[in-house]
Amino acid sequence: MAVPIPSKGKRTNGIQRHEPAEQGFRLEYQGKKPVEEILATPPGLYTSNAADSTGDNRLYHGDNLAALATMAQDKTVTGKVKLVYIDPPFATAAAFESRTQKHAYDDHLVGPVFVEALRERLILIHRLLADDGSLYLHLDERMTFHMRLILDEIFGEKNFRNCITRKKCNPKNYTRKTYGNVADYILFYSKTDTYVWNRPIELWDEPRAEKEYQCVDDQGRRYKKVPVHAPGVRNGETGKPWRSKMPPPGKHWQYTPDKLEEMDAKGEIYWSPTGNPRRKIYLENSAGVPLQNIWMDMRDAHNQNIHITGYPTEKNPALLARIIEASSNPGDLVMDCYAGSGTTLAVASRLGRRWIGVDSSCEAIETILHRLKHGTKRMGDFVNGETKPTLLPLFSISDFTLFNEIKDETESVAPGTDGVSAGELLAIR
Ligand SMILES: C[S@@+](CC[C@H](N)C(=O)[O-])C[C@H]1O[C@@H](n2cnc3c(N)ncnc32)[C@H](O)[C@@H]1O
Repeated sequence: MAVPIPSKGKRTNGIQRHEPAEQGFRLEYQGKKPVEEILATPPGLYTSNAADSTGDNRLYHGDNLAALATMAQDKTVTGKVKLVYIDPPFATAAAFESRTQKHAYDDHLVGPVFVEALRERLILIHRLLADDGSLYLHLDERMTFHMRLILDEIFGEKNFRNCITRKKCNPKNYTRKTYGNVADYILFYSKTDTYVWNRPIELWDEPRAEKEYQCVDDQGRRYKKVPVHAPGVRNGETGKPWRSKMPPPGKHWQYTPDKLEEMDAKGEIYWSPTGNPRRKIYLENSAGVPLQNIWMDMRDAHNQNIHITGYPTEKNPALLARIIEASSNPGDLVMDCYAGSGTTLAVASRLGRRWIGVDSSCEAIETILHRLKHGTKRMGDFVNGETKPTLLPLFSISDFTLFNEIKDETESVAPGTDGVSAGELLAIR
């Protein structure tokens, strides 16, 4: 693999190097609103059962645009959200039903209308994020590339961190004249360049460790050999000869000759039969492999024993655990405003984070309430008609407040949540 040598000056080989502009590209389409207009979105009006609520967590039943506008005016939320994960509709032009054939949600927005609807939410989400906060936007190949441009506009291209490719399912037996489609994508942005980051590490398993660390020393310790030089010429100590040997042409020693001498004395240098030095890297000193941006081990429910809620398009809780652990700390506030079955909320809660969830679907809210009270059940049990939940509740329902959006002044309780929010109604706007 060729390793490029970072250039230091503005000019390399007579060619002018261009710094990336703060605003490289813009996606233009009809109906794109000015940012100021979006930031002035009227907040929603909600009822809540304040009498029952004890915890910090919030669940909004209603359109997330109004909920985000409400939170943008709430000093306890705005600028305080450490992590937003969203998995919006993917512009499939389809309707989705739960495993029990109940209508869950419509995914009917496509093209520029889809882009603008999501852009409006992302502009408000950017407002809500803490300065050291992060956004993860989960999409598939239909809209990821449009939204990459939109997110560059909102967050700044320099705050783009990764486009994660996730293997979402097992290989399919495709009949179409194309490659099997098993990937979706997660765009990861931070609000600034100082953001919460707990580097995820994949632990070594034996076959992988043996492949990577092929040598064994006389004490039985596994190690691998790596070069002691690096690309680029240096004029200081690291460009000088060591043991009468110059670094290879175009390279420099990774350490000063004194340090290399010290390492050799400790047995950390391997000498090849032709007299070339290599550094020994021991397996025992490696915590694991830093996680890369292709995630093969995070498929959604793919066998009958996996526990699910039965809501369509629900994501793998392990995927959310990975993201939440990497980009937030216990006690932090995590938000998912396309909450669906509540995967983000349940996992955030298990990991000791506070959370805010929003969803406009009655089926989603009912699923979340059920999940928080009863847990999930084996996928196979949906097929068998088994109704008994098989996991213990995660925590009591009173650990959050449910806010129901009042769509107009004549409507007092949002549909689909009867029996959940008994008690005094509180208008919070
Ligand atoms: C793909 S699902 C999310 C699934 C979720 N990640 C999970 O693990 O269960 C998308 C969700 O977004 C919700 N949604 C779509 N448009 C919305 C809007 N404008 N406001 C609030 N929720 C919305 C849908 O009802 C649906 O539950």
